[in-house]
Amino acid sequence: MNIALIILAAGKGTRMQSELPKVLHNVASAPMLVHAMRAGRALEPKRTIIVAGHGFEAVSAAALAEDPEVEIVRQEAQLGTGHAVDQARAALDDFDGTVIVLYGDCPLIQPRTLEELSATLSTAAVSVLGFEAKNPARYGRLITDGDRLKRIVEFKDANPAERAVRLCNSGVMAASAELLFDLLSEIDANNASGELYLTDVIGKAVGRGLPCTAVRCAERETLGVNSRVELMQAEKEFQTLRRAEALEDGISMPAPETVHFSYDTVIGRDAIIEQNVVFGPGVTVESGAQIRAFSHLEGAHVSRGCIVGPYARLRPGAELAEDVKIGNFVEIKASTLDEGAKVNHLSYIGDAHIGARANIGAGTITCNYDGVMKHHTSIGEAAFIGSNTMLVAPITIGQDAMTASGSVITRDVPAGDLAIARSKQDNKAGFSVKLMNKLRALKAAKQN
Ligand code: UD1
Ligand code: MG
Repeated sequence: MNIALIILAAGKGTRMQSELPKVLHNVASAPMLVHAMRAGRALEPKRTIIVAGHGFEAVSAAALAEDPEVEIVRQEAQLGTGHAVDQARAALDDFDGTVIVLYGDCPLIQPRTLEELSATLSTAAVSVLGFEAKNPARYGRLITDGDRLKRIVEFKDANPAERAVRLCNSGVMAASAELLFDLLSEIDANNASGELYLTDVIGKAVGRGLPCTAVRCAERETLGVNSRVELMQAEKEFQTLRRAEALEDGISMPAPETVHFSYDTVIGRDAIIEQNVVFGPGVTVESGAQIRAFSHLEGAHVSRGCIVGPYARLRPGAELAEDVKIGNFVEIKASTLDEGAKVNHLSYIGDAHIGARANIGAGTITCNYDGVMKHHTSIGEAAFIGSNTMLVAPITIGQDAMTASGSVITRDVPAGDLAIARSKQDNKAGFSVKLMNKLRALKAAKQN
């Protein structure tokens, strides 16, 4: 099927009480707009048109960052969803096929549902995705007669009998491009909001004797976000779905309700994700790796056999080869750790390469920042970095080299060498007892 997506993303979202355009608010670390784009992309559309208006620059940038192929059209004034779709008319002038309209504020829609919807166009002229709402609130109501959809009435325009209808409009609609734009040229703003409602095309189609249909889907998929409370509900729904999916995929999670995923988190089978782990965007955890409790990962790749945490933080560019161990209160940023390397306690590793089987002692810090620039640290294979070593970058520690605990290393250490960079210890015989006695005598003299 030849498909063009039109994603509506021009609204301000007044009820969000935000400077940020509504569709750029995040669910699972990605703007809601990106969720809609991803769901639509599963249909392999030939064209994707984003209708932007409020916050045009920011919305365009977010859309293009996700997919440089999308086309952005501007809706100068937000005169309603029908007007919004009409802004794509010129761009789709040469397009012959099916249009699917998605809303940028509806992040949980599933690709399979969109496929089912477009399949109904074999018998219907216009298909709308609807859902039975537990609490229909302010959603538009689908007025049906058996299998046939007769019209859609917006909450504001509905009479009490219509408001009692629980079958609601998700906003997702499918029709041939030619018919949709033709119907849109007939709608008017003669309604309670004074807006051009996309939903009015149903009444127009039915008026022409064309069959329209409502495809039902689960309510949670169609959650339309208009406020912070609904944003939070969308987040909760996303997490619930993703956790269930992870368990089905063979991931062990003793307390799934405490694990937070991003829209793009990838986890292999038999990985173990302990309590209260948070995945920011861009994380891959391979099969069999273990992420222990209270760890925070973002932009990181964790290979098989790794153990991370408890209480570890992996920041963007953390690349862990197989069997790497990252322990408690360790932060890794923009660093590659080769197979079997260990950073077990209280360390900061940034802008570094750590060779295979190197051991980084407790409290080690790569001093990568001089206040202006970042510098690189290179640690050779099987090197041993003593506890509390400061590695002042740029610096290279050779293979099998060692640093003494408490050293501040400012010069490269050749392979196989031991570097000691701390002041020499001096023991004063009996001095501790002598000093204490003197101090106690002083204190006693003061009290008398
Ligand atoms: C809309 C539907 C309603 C449905 C609900 C589902 C209409 C008239 N109403 O109402 O039947 O139950 O969604 O969530 O279609 N937008 C534009 N330009 C505009 C107006 C809106 O791009 O001029 C975009 C918004 O950014 C948003 C989407 O369209 O992404 C929906 O707009 P919104 O104002 O949230 O519509 P609802 O009142 O929720
Ligand atoms: Mg809405």
